[in-house]
Amino acid sequence: MTRPHAYFAGTGRGVPAKIMTNDDFAAIGIETNDEWIVSRTGIRQRYIAGPNDSTCSMAATAARQAMKRAGVVEGELDAIVLSTATADRLLPATAVDLQAELGASRSAAFDIGAACAGFIFAASVGEGLIATGNAETVLIVGSERMSSIIDWKDRSTCVLFGDGAGAAVLKRVPAKRSLKPAGILSTYMRSDGTLADLLYRPAGGAAIPFSEAVLADRSYLVRMAGREVFKHAVRSMADATDRALDIAKLTPHDIDLLIPHQANIRIIEATAKHANLSMDKVYVNVDRYGNTSSASVAIALDEAIECGRLQPGQTVMLVAFGAGFTWASMVLRV
Ligand code: ACO
Repeated sequence: MTRPHAYFAGTGRGVPAKIMTNDDFAAIGIETNDEWIVSRTGIRQRYIAGPNDSTCSMAATAARQAMKRAGVVEGELDAIVLSTATADRLLPATAVDLQAELGASRSAAFDIGAACAGFIFAASVGEGLIATGNAETVLIVGSERMSSIIDWKDRSTCVLFGDGAGAAVLKRVPAKRSLKPAGILSTYMRSDGTLADLLYRPAGGAAIPFSEAVLADRSYLVRMAGREVFKHAVRSMADATDRALDIAKLTPHDIDLLIPHQANIRIIEATAKHANLSMDKVYVNVDRYGNTSSASVAIALDEAIECGRLQPGQTVMLVAFGAGFTWASMVLRV
């Protein structure tokens, strides 16, 4: 059967209540200012998890909304694919905690680690499960509590990230289909592990477990070579938009909306320019959320549908880049 195999039947998001603005950094002793952050990144505020907001709880809020909109109950989920760089525990996967929370007893549940590109990776895995007949209905989630793993003493990284979750329910496209059924038209995923040390957490895993030395030098927290990451992000997002269109056999003219990973407005603008799309065809919420890693594209997609920016029958391109490096794209008709 040719594409589409799977379509997005419903989306949702789960975002903490607490907002932290750029001006709030002064109160925690960070030497920065709104002008620097806005001009370099486009970020004005981000949501920060409270003590009761976990990666699982934000994922559950997003998932319940997506399931409600898709008209799907927990017993219908065949698989839960959760992308996160901020698992609540190192073992087991956060996806099984989410499965238990939702009561999705028939479901297989597992995490994937592809950082900011993770939601598109999860959607590709979900599409594959459906295309091979292994699943009818798959819940995909990107959920991140980035505030737990960033170094709140490092002004070059702590101003960039925020917390939140986005989710979608993927369902099989019916055999009896319309001429242009909603669904996934192309997927593209790439990685380059030779660049891993440009954005990583040096310690705290099995290779260098927690110790007093690790705690003292804060090497369990995110470290990033910002300028290098920026260059690779622009290059990889450009590659991903090209490939998404090639594989879907579409041109920029066919794209109604571009939803890029929301890390930095300058990366978003460069991606749109490369893809030959004007900024009025680009969904931007980095000003309100900062970089929520794998939740970013999922939250933006949910907002775009909810506010009517994306209408049934329209074609959207998702594109993301993250630690690994990983990058990915997807074209879908909603
Ligand atoms: N406030 C004020 N000054 C700051 C801050 C801050 N928050 N952070 C750094 N600076 C200072 C630096 O100390 C430096 O000062 P110096 O010149 O006196 O040494 C100066 O600003 C310039 O620092 P750079 O790092 O060179 O600034 P740059 O223009 O490259 O911007 C930034 C930094 C915003 C991090 C940029 O490199 C960037 O956006 N990189 C991509 C990061 C990214 O998007 N990562 C995530 C993508 S992948 C994923 O989502 C996981």
